[in-house]
Amino acid sequence: MNVGDPDRLADRIAANPYRRFPELDAAAAALLLADDLRAHRTALVDEGDEEARVVVSRVAWDCERLGVEIGRIEAWATAAATDATIERLARVARGALTQHRIAFASARLPSTDARAQALCQAIGLHPAGELQNLALDDPGPPAQGARPAATLVARDAGQGDLEAIRALAETGYENRLLTEARLDGARVRALYGEWAANDLRGRTPITLLALAEGAAAGFISVGLLRAPSGIGFVDLVVVAPWARRRGVGRALMEAAIPRLRERGAHRIELNVAATNGPAIALYRGMGFAPRMRFTDYSGWFD
Ligand SMILES: CC(C)(COP(=O)(O)OP(=O)(O)OC[C@H]1O[C@@H](n2cnc3c(N)ncnc32)[C@H](O)[C@@H]1OP(=O)(O)O)[C@@H](O)C(=O)NCCC(=O)NCCS
Repeated sequence: MNVGDPDRLADRIAANPYRRFPELDAAAAALLLADDLRAHRTALVDEGDEEARVVVSRVAWDCERLGVEIGRIEAWATAAATDATIERLARVARGALTQHRIAFASARLPSTDARAQALCQAIGLHPAGELQNLALDDPGPPAQGARPAATLVARDAGQGDLEAIRALAETGYENRLLTEARLDGARVRALYGEWAANDLRGRTPITLLALAEGAAAGFISVGLLRAPSGIGFVDLVVVAPWARRRGVGRALMEAAIPRLRERGAHRIELNVAATNGPAIALYRGMGFAPRMRFTDYSGWFD
């Protein structure tokens, strides 16, 4: 079964958890939910109603690269959802995970969504980390006096840069998958490389490569959620360990933001692990403000 058109589904789901945030209007909430759904292509089960709902999907891309059956769970539940409903949906989700032999599954929820968290925990998922969502509204020109790295050039990356960008992501990026002892670290790193390569192949419209002293020092990939949202996002920004604390990350952000503005972005958003001090310091220093937090849940089911 396929989830179908994520935009239509997102419109139908009145219990969209993102609607609870006063800082999000209806359109932004629908976009966020549609993006959650879009990212997880093949739904194994989609059950529930407007009070509580669960979608379990198989993430084919990650399965192939990690050599493990990987599932993704979208869970949402309103305060009106009863314990019986939560337990019923959890049983359905567990059944789908077992039937399709999903070994590892994860979910991401707004951190304040207590009922959806209850649903995830009833499925057998546990909190695995916190994400901070940051937003920069009305991004203006870069602050005067910003310190460019010596001899830094940030230019549009082309297909000839694919291997350099893949290597930067493999060696410089980290997320919570690396902390999963049962996943093969080398395969996780190769997956990061594939994400970056995919951005360059067109998943995001803009990828910039920074060169310092003639060598690939970092890259950034950015895009817009979908026209006419006016919401830009930063997908990946990675600086090689040897090139850090020299202004490369800031220079990449400062080169990418005007490109997003040119395309109509009036707000730029990103998610960052709440424990990633260097990245949060970089973003806050550029005027990004905290908007909402997400909790990542995960669990093994085999
Ligand atoms: C986050 C990252 C991109 C920063 O790149 P960078 O080139 O080292 O950053 P910059 O030199 O441009 O630093 C700009 C500002 O960010 C902050 N910052 C960067 N690294 C920091 C650190 N280790 N500790 C504290 N603040 C830091 C500082 O405010 C710094 O300004 P300052 O040097 O004038 O004090 C880099 O550390 C990285 O690639 N990390 C791994 C990948 C990653 O986590 N990416 C973000 C995922 S969302």
